[in-house]
Amino acid sequence: MKKIIAPSLLSANLAFLYRDIEMINESEADWFHIDIMDSSFVSNISFGSLFTKYVKKHAHKPMDVHLMILQPERYIKEFKDCGSDHLHIHYEACIHLHKTIYSIKKYGIKVGVAVNPHTPVFLLKDVIKDIDFVLLMSVNPGFSGQKFIKQTYQKLEETKDLILQKDSSALIEVDGGINLENASLLFKNGADILVAGTTIFSNSNPKKIIHRLLEE
Ligand code: DX5
Ligand code: ZN
Repeated sequence: MKKIIAPSLLSANLAFLYRDIEMINESEADWFHIDIMDSSFVSNISFGSLFTKYVKKHAHKPMDVHLMILQPERYIKEFKDCGSDHLHIHYEACIHLHKTIYSIKKYGIKVGVAVNPHTPVFLLKDVIKDIDFVLLMSVNPGFSGQKFIKQTYQKLEETKDLILQKDSSALIEVDGGINLENASLLFKNGADILVAGTTIFSNSNPKKIIHRLLEE
């Protein structure tokens, strides 16, 4: 299975956004990860569909959009129209999860369900065959630069088992606190995609860091 890196623009230097988009285009990274926050599901406010539309205009790689918003069903069409290729919705933010998954699929967009660190993955058992990604939050959502929660390794095991047991083709994405120390172990333990913000953008040579995240 190919290893995938999705740099999170939450840690980019917004004064030089175009430069950072170009860096990702030229790098070995595979996707653009965009974190949308509403100040209700999480306490932070980040970007919306206008920002996503701008990035899409210049991005030469798929747009992996992570909706950290309550009742995401209200915004599916808006995020389809601004160019999302993948939409992740939170298990905890969605009352009619199955229905919302299908309203995303209807648009031909790939769908992921994100789970917070406290949410057990067995709760996805009745939708695991319907989704393209499980997004395991390895920090509490809302901010970049937080410490990786080690219990994620256990959840990775449980997610792999669930996928196998239900004969699902969902890929596993891990988001938060990814660094050069934990990346290779996460890939070895079954993660397909790693989202990384601070580790990539705080370095003076972000392309090299992306290469190293894929390396070991
Ligand atoms: C957290 C976001 C992450 C975040 C990752 O709520 O979902 O995508 O940007 O940032 P780092 O890699 O700094 O933990
Ligand atoms: Zn994210």
